[in-house]
Amino acid sequence: MYLPKFTPVQSRFAASVGATIFLLFLLYSLNHPAVAYAEATGATRPEAGPNILGRQEEGQTPLVLGNNAPMSQPIVAGQIQFWRVDKNTIDGPAGRQGLQLPSSTGDNSSAPAADDEEREGLRKRQAGKTIYITVTTCGQPVYNGSESESDEAVPPQLSVYASQSPDNTRPGPDSDDEQESVVLDGGYGLIELDDDETVMIGVSAPNTTLFTGEWNYQIAVSIDAPFHRSLSQTPNLHFVDADTRAALLITDDLTTAQSNESSFADWMALDPPPYGMFVYPASLRSIGGVQNSYCGLRMLQGGLFTNLENSVNQNIAVTTDRGLGGKPKEQFYVTGLNASSEYVGILAQQPRLANASLSSDIGSGGTVWRSVQFSTKSMDNCALMYNLTFCSEVAYAVPTNPERFSTRDGLPELAQIYDNYAQSMYQYFNYSLQQIPCNTSETSAYSLVRDCDSCARAYKTWLCAVTIPRCEDYTNPAAWLKPRNVGQPFPNGSTTSIVPGFAESQQILAQAVATNSSRSLVIDEQISPGPYKEVLPCKDLCYDLVQSCPAALQFSCPTPGKGLEDSYGERSDNSGNLSCSYLGAAFFLSASPTIHVPWGLFALATLSALLLLFA
Ligand SMILES: *[C@@H]1O[C@H](CO)[C@@H](O)[C@H](O)[C@H]1NC(C)=O
Ligand SMILES: *[C@@H]1O[C@H](CO)[C@@H](O)[C@H](O)[C@H]1NC(C)=O
Ligand SMILES: *[C@@H]1O[C@H](CO)[C@@H](O)[C@H](O)[C@H]1NC(C)=O
Ligand SMILES: *[C@@H]1O[C@H](CO)[C@@H](O)[C@H](O)[C@H]1NC(C)=O
Ligand SMILES: *[C@@H]1O[C@H](CO)[C@@H](O)[C@H](O)[C@H]1NC(C)=O
Ligand SMILES: *[C@@H]1O[C@H](CO)[C@@H](O)[C@H](O)[C@H]1NC(C)=O
Ligand SMILES: *[C@@H]1O[C@H](CO)[C@@H](O)[C@H](O)[C@H]1NC(C)=O
Ligand SMILES: *[C@@H]1O[C@H](CO)[C@@H](O)[C@H](O)[C@H]1NC(C)=O
Ligand SMILES: *[C@@H]1O[C@H](CO)[C@@H](O)[C@H](O)[C@H]1NC(C)=O
Ligand SMILES: *[C@@H]1O[C@H](CO)[C@@H](O)[C@H](O)[C@H]1NC(C)=O
Ligand SMILES: *[C@@H]1O[C@H](CO)[C@@H](O)[C@H](O)[C@H]1NC(C)=O
Ligand SMILES: *[C@@H]1O[C@H](CO)[C@@H](O)[C@H](O)[C@H]1NC(C)=O
Repeated sequence: MYLPKFTPVQSRFAASVGATIFLLFLLYSLNHPAVAYAEATGATRPEAGPNILGRQEEGQTPLVLGNNAPMSQPIVAGQIQFWRVDKNTIDGPAGRQGLQLPSSTGDNSSAPAADDEEREGLRKRQAGKTIYITVTTCGQPVYNGSESESDEAVPPQLSVYASQSPDNTRPGPDSDDEQESVVLDGGYGLIELDDDETVMIGVSAPNTTLFTGEWNYQIAVSIDAPFHRSLSQTPNLHFVDADTRAALLITDDLTTAQSNESSFADWMALDPPPYGMFVYPASLRSIGGVQNSYCGLRMLQGGLFTNLENSVNQNIAVTTDRGLGGKPKEQFYVTGLNASSEYVGILAQQPRLANASLSSDIGSGGTVWRSVQFSTKSMDNCALMYNLTFCSEVAYAVPTNPERFSTRDGLPELAQIYDNYAQSMYQYFNYSLQQIPCNTSETSAYSLVRDCDSCARAYKTWLCAVTIPRCEDYTNPAAWLKPRNVGQPFPNGSTTSIVPGFAESQQILAQAVATNSSRSLVIDEQISPGPYKEVLPCKDLCYDLVQSCPAALQFSCPTPGKGLEDSYGERSDNSGNLSCSYLGAAFFLSASPTIHVPWGLFALATLSALLLLFA
């Protein structure tokens, strides 16, 4: 919890400070008893606008900023407000280090939780004194036009001007003297200055007639590191999958540490997990004005918060080492979404303090990362499922039957059906594997590099991906999707004839067994999901299985042109399309497992691997 520091100069501006407190109060009051003090001052929102404009015209005395001490102010269109950072602040003592996250690497030598942009800041910091000025938009004026869906409805941005020249004590749009300036981007602006002279700052609001009301912004100066951070170049959040009401998103690896290193366990043990997430409807145009501002995202109406201060809903954030690479990641399960809707998810770290009873720490103003857009499904016979016991890496939408399995309690029965089935199939394999001489000397073992453990691992990975199909809307037209159960009714009794444009191809698909059934009988008998489309498992899962296991097990994959395309999908490049299913898959993940497949293996193809599955 941070509060502004008041200096004598500011006492003239009781109204402004009142606004500051009001804003902070809004931000933090609900869960933060410390704010009761602000309430006790009886401060109310001042009449903004003309009042302040009048002062500006008679020449506003700049407000004074301290090191790492944020201040908040309302500002109206066309107005400019001035701030000052005194030399004794710039030459003053460094701020206090706040809470540190565990190391992002395995060894202890590097800075904690550093990403590229932070490392860059660190480098600059070490090179000499830098003054960081950050301004974030907390509140925006309201659009007063008729095109509320268009870009015109995105509130325009504030600008910041900074000068260290005695000749330019009022930096701003009308000043011709030397000054640094930046237009806020998504409600965030950063200016870095390298001189240790007194700094004059101007914050100006654009002229506009399309919007009514005022902006609120927070400004902070630091000689240590940017107080507010926007890592908008860093895509640290990935969309995994969604159904009609929930979505699963996951961060990048939190650390590169090996599982036996201390920071691995430190990340896994963090409670609550380190980051939170905002989800807003993508149609909300005003998000464009604050998407890089923690404060702005926090104040906007109509969002769903996960693991952030004052989250009031049932969304879940956990640290998990599931997924690619098996490193700690943070996973978000967001519920309460609408079907067929587009959303924006934004990873954030809320302002945090080592000791809530003291004022602010270095960099404690909140951090946001680049936003990720995703959409929910339109049909309710695909349900997001994760947290299985045996197929623990499964985390995507699977065929379901909403009439039989209620989404209310997280689908435990549905998960049981899939998980039990996969596990029982694994038992057959386990028996077979025990007939194979795995643990003999290296020369008689079937492979010098692979052993039965890697065979068992490859089998499990393949088995879970193949027995638990990844489900997509039946109406999704993407070419790589395989229609299933085409001739069957939807759980609610409708048939695929209700789907526009599908009529002719329907007939043919309904007759073929492959497209009028699921991959396994269990799904059709125990779940009866009706028509859906399947993201086929990636073919490299099959190749990896064949390569990893002893020939005596007689695994092989179907040949291209003779069944491969019907059973397996092909990975696309690192694009927005997920054209085949693999465990740990997420959109726009650059890391994919490196599987080198000798093409000669393809010739081995029979359907035995599939036969084993359907046996
Ligand atoms: C690394 O840090 C952990 C605690 O975070 C400590 O226990 C360990 O001894 C350190 N290792 C080295 C090599 O400094
Ligand atoms: C909205 O704009 C119109 C014309 O631009 C103006 O007449 C009206 O007063 C504005 N509404 C508000 C609430 O300011
Ligand atoms: C707003 O308009 C006034 C008068 O036209 C002008 O002096 C001022 O510079 C403008 N402000 C901005 C931020 O453009
Ligand atoms: C972790 O395990 C790897 C090999 O698995 C080993 O090389 C390394 O020394 C181990 N590190 C620690 C800190 O035990
Ligand atoms: C869902 O839709 C309803 C009705 O249109 C709307 O009021 C609500 O805000 C939407 N919720 C989300 C999270 O999009
Ligand atoms: C927080 O700061 C206060 C005031 O300096 C101090 O009394 C208290 O012990 C500190 N708490 C912690 C957990 O460090
Ligand atoms: C039945 O379910 C399908 C698929 O979810 C949906 O498109 C259709 O509108 C539903 N029909 C009725 C009458 O609810
Ligand atoms: C995951 O499953 C375990 C037990 O199977 C349960 O205790 C836990 O609450 C589940 N977690 C979530 C997030 O559903
Ligand atoms: C495979 O069989 C062995 C021996 O019966 C057993 O110890 C092991 O737990 C089985 N593995 C699985 C995953 O069921
Ligand atoms: C092979 O040997 C290792 C250790 O000696 C043992 O853990 C593993 O279970 C054995 N595998 C089989 C299939 O017997
Ligand atoms: C994803 O697939 C669609 C076809 O369904 C295609 O139009 C689009 O270009 C693909 N996107 C990328 C990034 O490859
Ligand atoms: C598709 O499968 C369903 C259920 O097995 C069956 O009732 C229906 O007759 C099949 N459709 C065709 C065209 O074969």
